[in-house]
Order: sequence, then C-alpha cells, then structure tokens
Amino acid sequence: MNVIRFADLVAQGRVAGQRVFIRADLNVPLDDSGRITEDTRIRASIPAIRMALDAGAAVMVTSHLGRPKEGEFKPEDSLAPVARRLGELLGREVPLVANWVDGVDVKPGQVVLLENCRLNKGEKKNDEALARKMAALCDIFVHDAFGTAHRAEASTYGIAQFAKVACAGPLLAAEIDAITKALAQPKRPLVAIVAGSKVSTKLTILQSLAKNVDGLVVGGGIANTFMLAAGLPIGRSLAEPDLVGEAKAVIAAMAARGAEVPIPVDVVVAKEFKADAPATVKAAADVAADDMILDIGPQTAAMLADKLKAAGTIVWNGPVGVFEFDAFAKGTETVARAIAESPAFSIAGGGDTLAAIAKYGIEKDIGYISTGGGAFLEVLEGKTLPAFEILARRAQG
Ligand code: 3PG
Repeated sequence: MNVIRFADLVAQGRVAGQRVFIRADLNVPLDDSGRITEDTRIRASIPAIRMALDAGAAVMVTSHLGRPKEGEFKPEDSLAPVARRLGELLGREVPLVANWVDGVDVKPGQVVLLENCRLNKGEKKNDEALARKMAALCDIFVHDAFGTAHRAEASTYGIAQFAKVACAGPLLAAEIDAITKALAQPKRPLVAIVAGSKVSTKLTILQSLAKNVDGLVVGGGIANTFMLAAGLPIGRSLAEPDLVGEAKAVIAAMAARGAEVPIPVDVVVAKEFKADAPATVKAAADVAADDMILDIGPQTAAMLADKLKAAGTIVWNGPVGVFEFDAFAKGTETVARAIAESPAFSIAGGGDTLAAIAKYGIEKDIGYISTGGGAFLEVLEGKTLPAFEILARRAQG
C-alpha cells in the first residue's frame, strides 16, 4: 500500500521544527481506581513519539479513551493516567492539555498529550469543521492508531483529509506491512485459524478468507457448527444450528478452490462448563447427547500442528478450545507451539489470541502481533480500513 511514512519524512529532514500531531490508540483498560491494567498500546505508541521528538518536532499526541459522551467531561474519561505512564516510558513529563481544539502551545523538542479526543463535539461523526480545526494545529498529521484504523472519525479521518501532510506512523506502517505480507502477498500455503464462540460474529471473515486461504482452521463454537455441517454429533456443545447452511457454503467454496476446512476427528468433552469438570477425549463421531465439546482432541491437534509447520503464512485469530481451563487448553497450546515453531510468517490478533500467546510465552516467535481488536477483524473481513484509504489517497498528492 502506498502511503507516506513518517520515518521517511524524518529521514528526508522534513520534520525538524514542525508541529506534529500524532493520533495514537492509547485506549487501554483501567481498573475501578483508574489504574492501567495493561499498557501494550502505550508502549507500542512510544516509537512514533520518540521519532518526532528526536527529529526536533513540536509534538502533540492524542487518543480516545473509552466511548465518552461528547462535550461532557467526566474524570474517568481523562487521559491523565495515560499521560503519567507515557511520562514514565519517555523519561520526561508529559503535560495533559484540555480544551485544545482552538490552539495548543507546544515548542520544538516538547511533547504534550491532548485530552481524550472523543470529548470533542463532532469527533464521532467526523465533523468537517472540527477536523479542519485539528488539521490547522499541525504541519504534519501522523496516523499511528491501528486499533482505531477502522473508524472514520474527525481525529482519524477528517484531520488526514485536511492536514498539510498526512502520513502513517511507525506502528501503523508496521501493521500495514504485516497485513500485506500475510494476506495480499502471502507465501503459500496460507493457513488461517478463525476460532471463537459464534459463527455469526465471524461469518464475513470466514467467507472472505474462504476466497484466499489454502487451509481454514475453525475452532471453538465455530468448529462445533462446522462439525454439525459435516454431519457429526455435538451433544450440548455451543453452536448455531441455523448457520449450518453458511458453514456448508464455506466448506464448498474452499473445496471448489482445492482448499480445505479441517474438521476435528477427536475432541475433549465434559458434562459441565467448569474448570474442574472431568475431561474425556472422544472420537468426533462418539460425542454423546449430554457432552459439551470444550477442546479439540490430541489427534486433531497433531494434524493441525503438521499443517501449521508446513505453512508459508499463518493468520491466527482465536483459541481453539477453552484454554482458560487447563484441562481444555492442550489443543490451543499445541496449535500455539506449532505456530511458534513453524518457519511460516505468522500474524496474530484479537484479545483472546493475545492472552493465549502470553500464556505460552511465545511472543517472540510470532511474526507480528497486531495491536488491533476490531480493526484486525475488519482486515480479515477483506475491508479496506478508512485510515488506509485516506492515507493512500493523500500519498497521491
Ligand atoms: C479498540 O479498543 O478496539 C479501539 O481502541 C477502538 O475502540 P472503539 O471500538 O471504541 O472505536
């Protein structure tokens, strides 16, 4: 994808003394007392800020936090805890600026954090007047918020339309590169793992990937619906029988391209959805009426591991079993370790997937771990994200 990259502007010496507005995604989880419980997104936003500061820019950073009501400030919507954490990571004070739309006082070599951009009236609707005001604050707009790249809001889209220069920050550029490598120019075979509780929430992803991938591994409740489609018993397992037709269509679309959707040959079942429920391995054909499938079985896991180790590219979204319960985690662990050991380029995204990666300590063995939740899913759906569209357009002049 052809976008202007902030790193190139820096290398060309075009950033010194300039006013740089960075839209980051610093939307991190906070506990009831306002403490940050997970700061990956803040850490991932540091390289763009450092790059701008090192280049001698006057740096403004903003982000949304949650979904506050526009025009109504509440203390819990403040980016204050984020400003403190940014300050710790950058080793300097990061002042938090409120009511910033009409002007920001910041000098070259300084960085300020602009209060929650979703407090501005018109942000969500991408109001043109608001976007023009934000654009007027800067010489260079840097979009570095992949997690919000699927939203066309004033601070993510309108500002990119009207700023003198609009470019991709290092985080957004890395996401673009990884997505291109995995889905647009993949080394084949390309294997995707799409797991989760419901086919309905991931149907468009399954349909889109069915046109592109060589192997489509389904897991969790999604796999149960596909087992039903294959004529297998699933007992009391989570599934959507009304979507069996769609599951069959995905299998047929894959088969027509000579690609496959591997259906589990064995499963781990329990009579109750409980961490300490006795776990039993069964052939897929032997699932009883009162069984609940909570994981894939060892034979299925080994079969998938072989496919993953032979893949050229792997796209991973979702654990294949209830990996939070140790008795039902072996399938996900086997798949995770196979991805880690595979020479394939792998890209992973989604909250549960990141939790599984952390549980098995394989972060370093994944080719790219996306910071996007909804944005990553929309990429898998085959959509062009608004951020990519506008930055590509601005790169054309
Ligand atoms: C996310 O957490 O997925 C992003 O920050 C986007 O947040 P949103 O769904 O509120 O736009």
